[in-house]
Amino acid sequence: MNRQQFLKSAALALPAMTSGMTYANLHGWQVPTNSLNDESFWKLVRSQFPLSKEVNYLNNGTMGVSPYSVIDAVYQKAVTINTKGIYGGGDHEALDAIARFVGANADEIAFTHNVTEGNNIIAQGLPLSKGDEIIMTSHEHVGGALPWLNRARHDGVIIKIINLGGTAAETIANIEKAITKKTKAFALPHIPCTIGQVLPAKQIAALAKSKNIFSFFDGAHGPGMLNLDLHDIDCDFYSSCCHKWMLGPKGTGFLYVKKSVLDVLKPVMVGAYSDSGWDMLSNPPTMNGYSPSAHRFCYGTQSAELYEGIIAAIKFHETIGKQGVEDRVKYLTSTLRDGLKTLGPNIELVTPEEPISRGAVTAFRLKNMTMQKFQEMANKENFTIRTVAENNLNVIRISTHIYNQPDEINAFVDLVKRCI
Ligand SMILES: Cc1ncc(COP(=O)(O)O)c(C=O)c1O
Repeated sequence: MNRQQFLKSAALALPAMTSGMTYANLHGWQVPTNSLNDESFWKLVRSQFPLSKEVNYLNNGTMGVSPYSVIDAVYQKAVTINTKGIYGGGDHEALDAIARFVGANADEIAFTHNVTEGNNIIAQGLPLSKGDEIIMTSHEHVGGALPWLNRARHDGVIIKIINLGGTAAETIANIEKAITKKTKAFALPHIPCTIGQVLPAKQIAALAKSKNIFSFFDGAHGPGMLNLDLHDIDCDFYSSCCHKWMLGPKGTGFLYVKKSVLDVLKPVMVGAYSDSGWDMLSNPPTMNGYSPSAHRFCYGTQSAELYEGIIAAIKFHETIGKQGVEDRVKYLTSTLRDGLKTLGPNIELVTPEEPISRGAVTAFRLKNMTMQKFQEMANKENFTIRTVAENNLNVIRISTHIYNQPDEINAFVDLVKRCI
């Protein structure tokens, strides 16, 4: 692109970006007291997203789409930074907002860029020796599995795999059976990306504590789907992102490290924000120590505009109410499950039936059609879905978030009906 072409495209792009951001002021919203199936309210919510009306987006489990308010917050902050030349360092307002949103203290939260980064910080940082055992599941995402497999390769740590049970009690029993004297940590998904089963995190954390085992959750799907309270769950570590169910900017995440286990973890990557003082001119050069909070796991320049987007995403959720969001996404999931159940024996629902084991993800198989063929059919009708080939599960995965409407779900059930 030459200079003239660049100026032309920038001139076209800028007015479109600013004029496109006409959205309701969320703080003026009257959220109905019983909003669960007040469809006019949820249509108003839908209107807050630029997501095209042509797209039936049922793949929030991969990536959440953001409302206008988030996109605008990022844009406005970027304009401020770039017109005034302000350096974007650690943002305490965003840390406070995340901490409030997930039931933690701000000094227990470190910014990351995604879930995988947090998973690596824990997998690399825990004090483990050859022969120590880590309990994981047969439902890991690549970003959950590889950090631990990497640690196993480097240090001879042993990964023990359990299957998920059909109920929370069965899953706990499977974990209990796998524990030995050498078990040092549980590294489990809170909600696996495969079938979206919600694991009983609080009971698992309590089990870990009772056996002197570290509890770590890959929480890619927790915040923004469930009304999360990490202090109530009482796990040691929880890694998540703001770009899925929180509907925040892409490439943003956070790691929770419980205060009492902060010093147990070895910070492997350090830089600005990690230390409590250093001196290269003394002899020998010194680093006094780490930052007294979880911020020690942050390093280097951060993106102030993305943090502004995180704050806006959290405000968006809080305006509706965290419990209101959880209730609605579960309601949409139940609508989908009930619809699929009417279609007879060619549908195999894989996500457990038990209400406490279900969130906003539904996985199923079609007995007479491959998932690849079904995906082709779905794409032709503008449904964005995910198929899960990982660990030979071969399921169709549907995620429903607050921007989805019951009509879309009914249309999806109708598509399945035509395929069986
Ligand atoms: C359970 C789970 N863990 C980890 C990841 C990786 O997330 P990220 O791309 O934010 O690192 C995903 C992404 O889908 C996931 O579902």
